[in-house]
Amino acid sequence: MCGIIGIVGRTAVAPRLVESLRRLEYRGYDSAGVAAIVDGKLERRRAVGKLRALDEHLAAEPLGGTVGIGHVRWATHGAPTEANAHPHASGRVMAVHNGIIENYAELKAELIAKGRTFESQTDTEVAVQLIDQYLSEGQAPLAAFQSALARFQGAYALAVLIEGEDRLVLGARRGSPLVVGYGDGEMFIGSDALAVGPFTNRVAYLDEGDVVAIDDTSARILDAAGHDAIRPVRVIPASAALVEKGNYRHFMEKEIHEQPDSCQHTLAAYVDPVALKASPPADVDFKALNRIQIVACGTASYAGLIGKYLIERIAGLPVDVEVSSEFRYREAALSPGTLAVAVSQSGETADTLAALRFCKAQGLVTAAIVNAHQSTMAREADVLWPTHAGPEIGVASTKAFTAQVSVMAALAVAAAAQRGRIDAAQEAHLVHVLLEAPRLISESLQVEDTIREIAHELGRARDVLYLGRGAMYPLALEGALKLKEISYIHAEGYAAGELKHGPIALIEEDTPVIVIAPSDSLFEKTASNMAEVIARGARVIMITDAEGQRHAPPGARVVTAPACDPLIAPLVFAGAIQLLAYYTAVQKGADVDQPRNLAKSVTVE
Ligand code: F6R
Repeated sequence: MCGIIGIVGRTAVAPRLVESLRRLEYRGYDSAGVAAIVDGKLERRRAVGKLRALDEHLAAEPLGGTVGIGHVRWATHGAPTEANAHPHASGRVMAVHNGIIENYAELKAELIAKGRTFESQTDTEVAVQLIDQYLSEGQAPLAAFQSALARFQGAYALAVLIEGEDRLVLGARRGSPLVVGYGDGEMFIGSDALAVGPFTNRVAYLDEGDVVAIDDTSARILDAAGHDAIRPVRVIPASAALVEKGNYRHFMEKEIHEQPDSCQHTLAAYVDPVALKASPPADVDFKALNRIQIVACGTASYAGLIGKYLIERIAGLPVDVEVSSEFRYREAALSPGTLAVAVSQSGETADTLAALRFCKAQGLVTAAIVNAHQSTMAREADVLWPTHAGPEIGVASTKAFTAQVSVMAALAVAAAAQRGRIDAAQEAHLVHVLLEAPRLISESLQVEDTIREIAHELGRARDVLYLGRGAMYPLALEGALKLKEISYIHAEGYAAGELKHGPIALIEEDTPVIVIAPSDSLFEKTASNMAEVIARGARVIMITDAEGQRHAPPGARVVTAPACDPLIAPLVFAGAIQLLAYYTAVQKGADVDQPRNLAKSVTVE
């Protein structure tokens, strides 16, 4: 949801800003822009569309200077036009912003009354004009910045240049992340560690309400109360700094194929392979819990739903799952003994963060299953249950999803063991099952030729239905979401048994219906639903194992996944639905890693 970078450097700043923005493009790609201080004056270049367009603009009209800021935009207020692209400018100020300033209309009216005119529809321009207003009233740069921040309601991460301050970039965060990068005689601020990764691996994460001023060698950090503060500098792992596609065409393809590894790394933190015990990295007394409340958005919420199926079945512990955007506003009744669990790749999703904070304010113990280990959720939750998927760049989540599901499966076993629902032998068996998952995921991905053929047909469809039962139902929802978001084909996921209660009316001659049906205790029921849609002309694509394949209805296309225990079936069957979406999108020529209208990290409501 917009990415920002600020550099006080020693070499040409424009190419460095663009290099950083390339790593931030997953956060937004409606437009991009950079600004620099050139011979004491502020200059900017902006372009609508992907970063390529800015690159071309910079090639035609180079930008000098060694100090600058940059931005990739995911439009909230105002269409993706050049006028609405960042950096925004007013008088002595240029700034880039991630977030939403909610009271911008009121501030804008106040500034217009002072005689100021606006060139964009953005909330950010209001912020810039307000800072400039305070400067013009005689306040010093940092003071003017702080005065403006004190007026903002909403969420922001900002990076600001001020004319007359040649070696200074100001930054602030509230509700949107911001890190400070410590270089060798140069300093950086950026939306995440990836942004500053090309320049330094020494990073400090700012806290809510922090303000920072960077110059050539130092960062002065002020906390929300305006007091000087120290934020620990950490050395970030190379994986966070190095993000390349390697031999793959898209990050999504690469990330799908990384799942055996990401699942293994994640599980390694949750099970003891020698003692064959589940051993989550942070202790929670599952015996003392009455309930788990999961809050999450999109794909992460489907991982949560899979968690519900696994944890309730194996550990007998009730689990509720709700999308954060609803949960946060509906004044949910929470009972004592409930553990609130936020599930999030980024750890920054605004609605999930708000839901987590709501639960905390109600006195619940909170946990966060997050992939970004320094994110706000990771830091605010009482318990951190990390996923170890590594940086996920493709906007459509794949390896983060299966890492979340891996954690859910391991927690189900841990909770069952602690609550006495399984004995040591059963625990050892289930841990053994978990440890088989990476190998089986790897096998499950060896279906690309079949999938490519099916994708060819799917690419022509107008509507696609996904069906599943049990833990395959959330996977059906996830399959439909993946197809929609990257191939723009309308798709819906349903619980297979729900079909006859309405959705079956959608079936026409040749409507593709993707049925996720491992040969488990529910197989026969799902097979009946398949027969129902085939009788109405549907083209069934069945994702099943070898045993299920033997019972495939005539005419069904079959994608075969390895047979596995139901505990890990959501992990082993995920690859096929991801590859189906991927190859359909590729076949349609869609921009897989940067689908239209989406952004990787949704830090606004
Ligand atoms: C879909 C997708 C989104 C995210 C959702 C939550 O492929 O990636 O639905 O799952 O925006 O994001 P996080 O997990 O960062 O909270």
